[in-house]
Amino acid sequence: MIDTSLYYLLMANRNNLKFELKAELPRLTVGETVALCVFENEAQLSGATGDVLEAIERVLRDGEFKGEAESSFVLHDAELKAAGNLILLGCGESKDSNPSTFSKAAATAVRSAHSAKAKHLYFVLPRVANEERTARAIVEGATLGLYENGFYQRREETAAQLEKVTLIVSGGSDSFRSATERGRIVAESVNWTRALADEPGASLPPREFARRAAEMAAEFGLKVETLSAAEIEKRGMGGLWGVGKGSDEPPALIVIRYEPEGASIDDELWAFVGKGITFDTGGISIKHGLDMYEMKTDMAGGAAALGALRAIAGLKLNRRLVAIVPAAENMPSGKAIKPGDVIRTLAGYTIEVVDTDAEGRLVLSDGIAYAKQLGASRIVDLATLTGSIIVALGDHRAGLFSNNDEWAKRVEEAALRAGEPAWRMPVSDDYKKPIESAIADFKNYGGRPDATAAALLLSKFAGDTPWVHLDIAGTSWLDEAQPFAPKGSTGAGVRTLVELVSASS
Ligand code: BES
Ligand code: MN
Ligand code: ZN
Repeated sequence: MIDTSLYYLLMANRNNLKFELKAELPRLTVGETVALCVFENEAQLSGATGDVLEAIERVLRDGEFKGEAESSFVLHDAELKAAGNLILLGCGESKDSNPSTFSKAAATAVRSAHSAKAKHLYFVLPRVANEERTARAIVEGATLGLYENGFYQRREETAAQLEKVTLIVSGGSDSFRSATERGRIVAESVNWTRALADEPGASLPPREFARRAAEMAAEFGLKVETLSAAEIEKRGMGGLWGVGKGSDEPPALIVIRYEPEGASIDDELWAFVGKGITFDTGGISIKHGLDMYEMKTDMAGGAAALGALRAIAGLKLNRRLVAIVPAAENMPSGKAIKPGDVIRTLAGYTIEVVDTDAEGRLVLSDGIAYAKQLGASRIVDLATLTGSIIVALGDHRAGLFSNNDEWAKRVEEAALRAGEPAWRMPVSDDYKKPIESAIADFKNYGGRPDATAAALLLSKFAGDTPWVHLDIAGTSWLDEAQPFAPKGSTGAGVRTLVELVSASS
């Protein structure tokens, strides 16, 4: 029995943040915090007056706070000679700031206000070029900032809890309202994704992953077409079956569809395919070391594909979509696949499994082939695929691989706009040596860290369908807590996919 009651308790507490817009900052009362953006190059203090303004000017004059990006500084009631607190948010040089700067600043403000037990946060919108886009980023960041993953911690009843965020904007029009509503919908889906990816392996085996997906689908009017283990085997999905068969927990192919209103069967269908390894021990080629526990997040790509559909359905965007998540637990056992075994994939290609820890590419090969069977004309896959992409790009950029320059550019630009930058890497037969097998069509490992070889193997399954592979092994997980987020999963990829679809619908 899986007990998810703790999870629901927590998310229920967190979901009721209210947002409103106001034209002017009122005088603060106890339990209120005001957040102001400070740029390194200009003292932009619109919104503050009187004692508060004086206090800020003193801090800046004394050099106690300089406005560096991702820094912050809290001033308490005594220093302000007023009730409430003030948080200054460093936003770096104004020319370098972008929506992601303000999203992170808002997350920091919310977390700080929350830990100071404030009930109400005022956020003064900085004077920047695109105010509506900025308002959206702030609402998004505030919602993301409240995310916590202490699902299994006992919590005392907290006396105060952040209830409301008031954006101080000069306008206050309907377009602001729709921008902020959009920020909320997207961020709630990112949080939904993070909560899945932060669950321990035992709490989220494939069947529970599928159940959560179906529950979300019912709530958002999406169609569920998930395949059971028996169907996976029967249809010849040897990659997913091969990886899943070593576990007592059966694999599943989670399939969720979004059909916009008025869509016709002839309209283009895009597929988001996400790696759904609910725990990756490495299998018989077992992993070692202290970091294995992080492999509970090896389904972050799958969770992101589902989270993107959740957001897109909430926003009612106009594009037919399918999310495909090959879900399995990679375990060693007497039934497990062995190094040297050969599997036959759904696409018909055979793969020699040299290392059972290179399992992501095996399950994705079937996921991509299935996307094509369903008639997808464009594919994006997301996967915590390789440690080597972390060596190459760290946690600041996802690896982007593609067989199609135009599609690659669209995804790359969407990622950048979404504040989730990706870096294009090559896919070409120059790199084929590590996937050449003496006994099968391909092998899954060539003996060295291999983000490029892994992507090349996937490209064989995409064929000439426009395809992008995002290796999010680095970006989907924060090793250390940040002012804007706890240690753990980030929901990487959701915002990129939403941005990609909204740019074309
Ligand atoms: N899930 C891992 C990749 C990974 C590593 C994600 C670290 C996040 C953090 C993947 O299945 C894997 O084990 N990759 C191996 C492949 C190798 C053994 C062929 C890797 O990259 O080291
Ligand atoms: Mn692995
Ligand atoms: Zn893995």
